[in-house]
Amino acid sequence: MARRKVNINTLRLKKKRNEKITYLTAYDFPTAHFADQAEIDMLLIGDSGGMTMMGQESTISVTMDEMLMMAKSVVRGSKSTFNVGDMPFMSYQASNEDAIRNAGKLIAIGCDAVKLEGGTEVCERISAINNSGIPVMAHLGLTPQSLSQMGGYRVQGKNLSSFKKLLEDTLAVESAGAFSVLVEAIPEEVSAELYKHIKVPLYGIGAGKHVDGQLVISHDMLGLFVGDVNPKFVKKYANLSDSITNAFKEYKKDVENLSFPAEEHQYPIKEDDLKEIQKYSSSYKSK
Ligand code: KIV
Repeated sequence: MARRKVNINTLRLKKKRNEKITYLTAYDFPTAHFADQAEIDMLLIGDSGGMTMMGQESTISVTMDEMLMMAKSVVRGSKSTFNVGDMPFMSYQASNEDAIRNAGKLIAIGCDAVKLEGGTEVCERISAINNSGIPVMAHLGLTPQSLSQMGGYRVQGKNLSSFKKLLEDTLAVESAGAFSVLVEAIPEEVSAELYKHIKVPLYGIGAGKHVDGQLVISHDMLGLFVGDVNPKFVKKYANLSDSITNAFKEYKKDVENLSFPAEEHQYPIKEDDLKEIQKYSSSYKSK
């Protein structure tokens, strides 16, 4: 029997029951389909797609149109996951109107919620989007859209002043109406402290196990990421880059030594029809 679609109440219930949720990034139709088959709970159509799928240096240049294209493919591929559309840089920062309009575009194509980065400074946006009927996940800790402000990919919450800010932001986004909070790259003991204060689900990526569920970038866990970013917190479940490169190498060899296409890869033709074609072809004179 097909699984029922995961919704916001499923996520709340899982927290209440202390059941961990699984959360992966997806940017295309087949990945979404396979995640659905594996009964993953949530998919994030992340602006990390700019790096994983388009080879960009960071997430900063990802556009709303690119997000919508990736989100459409994911929504088509997955029937039962809870799909979160990431709001790219400058799609919500400038005004509440921008934030509502762009969040609305992600919902209109089938996302179930949106995610945006930031704490107290984006609470007004979170309230505005939430008041228009769209669930918002807040993203705290390491926030890649503020990479230059943070001075690179750095672990967050490692001292008291950083923890104070993290806690203040967590409580502020929760009061602003965020239905959940995602924390990235903080020590496990620090997320355990945050967890004591938050009522909505707290999810983590590189934040240890004392949270309600784990997000992993699918390209990282599948060994598909091309580039220098290599976070310590990723566990590799496959090495698809080697599998793909080896398949391509084998294909090249087969074509060059004429072992592909073999007989089983070719369309059959009746002998009489072939003879007729050959006769016509050999007597054919171009006009
Ligand atoms: O875009 C993304 O995948 C993200 C995660 C890194 C949290 O925002």
